[in-house]
Amino acid sequence: MSEHTPELTGRRALVTGATSGIGAATARHLAAHGAEVIVVGRDDARGAAVVRRITDAGGTARFVRADVGDPAQITALRQEAGDIDILVNNAGFALWAPTETFPREDLEATWATNVRAPFLLVAAFVPAMLENKNGAIVNIGSIAADLGMSGAAAYSASKAALHALTRAWAAEFGGRGVRVNTVAPGPVRTSMGDPEVVEQIAAAAPLGRVAEPEEIAELVGFLASDRSGYITGATLDVDGGRNAV
Ligand SMILES: NC(=O)c1ccc[n+]([C@@H]2O[C@H](COP(=O)([O-])OP(=O)(O)OC[C@H]3O[C@@H](n4cnc5c(N)ncnc54)[C@H](OP(=O)(O)O)[C@@H]3O)[C@@H](O)[C@H]2O)c1
Repeated sequence: MSEHTPELTGRRALVTGATSGIGAATARHLAAHGAEVIVVGRDDARGAAVVRRITDAGGTARFVRADVGDPAQITALRQEAGDIDILVNNAGFALWAPTETFPREDLEATWATNVRAPFLLVAAFVPAMLENKNGAIVNIGSIAADLGMSGAAAYSASKAALHALTRAWAAEFGGRGVRVNTVAPGPVRTSMGDPEVVEQIAAAAPLGRVAEPEEIAELVGFLASDRSGYITGATLDVDGGRNAV
């Protein structure tokens, strides 16, 4: 590869939940570094806007609509997307409520999107990566996996499960050329979460501010690239130091 060739040239990446926030920033970052990006989300208009911004900047991207909480749509997505080299399991959401009144359907929806979807996506896409003896999977976890936060039991447990999947998959696939890591953000400026709560969490961090989605995408891009070739099974916090204090 020449010194001037973008490092992800020739790689195909799929980013779930890429129609806004961290996923959109990640899709733009991977495309800017040469990857062909499949933008996945549920909203056609927002998907088209992300693709347009990437192509306007000279990158390559296309949108595939899928609700990853529905296993049948994951099967269809696998067919539509074809083989990929990079999978970013980013789609997710947080519903905060007291445990005693937490609606059962919300618990099941949290599990379906935040845990079952990454599991089924890896099961669907990893065989081709293993065959090529090359692949990078990056999961978007959360520092909420390690913090006891009142009202966040379901969300925190779902992210702790994703961190556990990361370690198991690193063991399962590492000998066959596929690396698996988690980026665990702290408070990030996106449409997720009550902005007041996000600011409160940020105020308790040494850096004392909320992150921009691009600051999370930087680490995802590194973990997706060959520059992180000896890193697997890791959960790396991008949290302004919140988890350290
Ligand atoms: N913001 C934070 O402070 C923070 C902190 C730690 C971790 N995270 C994690 O970062 C990830 C991204 O969140 P964000 O902050 O960027 O929030 P966001 O702006 O609300 O983006 C969430 C994305 O996920 C997509 N999505 C949700 N459910 C989906 C489903 N069932 N199928 C397909 N796409 C789905 C949404 O797409 P559509 O609505 O267009 O379908 C949207 O693009 C999440 O996993 C979240 O838990 C966020």
